[in-house]
Order: sequence, then C-alpha cells, then structure tokens
Amino acid sequence: MRKKIVAGNWKMNTLPAEGVELAKNVVAGRGEVCSCVNFIVCPPFTHLSQVIDAVKGSDIAVGAQNCAAEAKGAYTGEVAASMIAALGCEYVILGHSERRQYYGETSETLNKKMAQAYANGLKPIYCVGENLDEREAGKHFDVVKAQIEEVVFNLTAEQFSQLVIAYEPVWAIGTGKTATAEQAQEIHAYIRKVLAGKFGAAAAECPILYGGSCKPSNAAEIFAKEDVDGGLIGGAALKAEDFLAIGKGFAK
Ligand code: PGA
Repeated sequence: MRKKIVAGNWKMNTLPAEGVELAKNVVAGRGEVCSCVNFIVCPPFTHLSQVIDAVKGSDIAVGAQNCAAEAKGAYTGEVAASMIAALGCEYVILGHSERRQYYGETSETLNKKMAQAYANGLKPIYCVGENLDEREAGKHFDVVKAQIEEVVFNLTAEQFSQLVIAYEPVWAIGTGKTATAEQAQEIHAYIRKVLAGKFGAAAAECPILYGGSCKPSNAAEIFAKEDVDGGLIGGAALKAEDFLAIGKGFAK
C-alpha cells in the first residue's frame, strides 16, 4: 500500500512565532483527519527547529524546502543537508519549480543535492512539472520524463524506496488554476510507468503527489484518482484549517 501524504510547502512565509502557531494548530486538528494520511510541514530554515519542537509527540513530520549541493565549507548563505538532519528533519523538498526557475537549479545541481539528502538520511520530495508553453505545445510528458531520467534514474533501488515525487505543473502553482483530476491522473500514471521502466515493481510503492492550487474544494476529487497519492500544498498550507481540510480529501 502506497503512503498517502499531504505536505505543506510554506515557502518564504511565516515568522517563527506564526510558524509555531500554525504547526500547533495542525497538531491540534490532526485527529479529525484519517490516520492513514501522513502530514508533513516544510517551514523556512529559520524556524525548522521550533516547528520540530511544536510537533513533537505527534505524527506530523517536518521537512526543509531545500538543501545545499555540497557537504560543508565555504558556501556563504547555504544550509547543508547534515545541518537539517541534525535538527530532526525527515524530508527535504528538492527541485521545486521556483528553485529551478529563480535560482537556476539544473539536473546537475539536483543530483548533488539528492546525494547530500540521502547521505544524511533525509527523504527527498523531488518536484517535477512543465510550464505553460510546454503544456500547450504538448511537451509535458517529455519534460517530466527528462526531469525524472536525469535525476531519479541515478538513484539506487534502496534510495528510490525512500523517495516521494511531486508533480507540479508550473502553470497551476499559486495561480488558482488547478490541473483537472483527469490531467493529474494521466501524467501521474505516465510518471509511474517511466519509474517502472527503471525500478520495476518498486514504482508501485512510490508516492506521487499533486501540487498546484490544491485546496479543500478540489483535493478529494484529485486524490480519488488511482495514481495520485496526496498533495504538495503551497498557499492553502498556511492556514491549518485549510491544510487539514485538504487531508480530509482522503476519507476517514
Ligand atoms: P500552491 O503551491 O499550492 O500555492 O499552488 C504549490 C507548490 O508550489 O508547492
């Protein structure tokens, strides 16, 4: 049985006190949602530690939104995977489209970041997805395939067993425009097929999350699709009530 995951990507939002309050509210309301849902919150680096404390004793996991490509050293402003892991983080988001787009992250960088994540026991949430031009040109399958082949195909079977994939069409992120449940299913099934070509039966166990304007009103329909195993949530993860309501997209 594949894991069901609802992960919150807080991006560059919340001050520490706000983040702690948000995390505590998620913990407080968690019981209303099926215990089958694995919740993950991904705050900014600055309050990872406080959020980890705030969720202690609950089943809410914590992830970082990025990590450095290098292990340590003279890389001003970077945060190493070992530092994140030392705080008690379990996950790290890698290859988010905002990182690819605004910070020039390429498959080459992402291979290094993945290696750092695994070397430090962090489970990557690896993001893939096409932009609007690529979708309109019918290239979305090829784009996503390349993002997977160039990075995920370099993993060992053992590493792959710890991986979460998030499919996030760039045109749906923060735009209020969501992929239809059918569009999500179509490409999730395709991603699983690509993964199966390399990792065989293990592909059936890899959680593939949908991301891009996922909200309480559309989560249930999208999550009902066979190859959609949950969501990576941006804007709607900033309100505990909405984040939890998205989790309720999986029937209790
Ligand atoms: P959104 O962001 O839910 O605000 O569209 C999703 C994401 O970028 O992970």
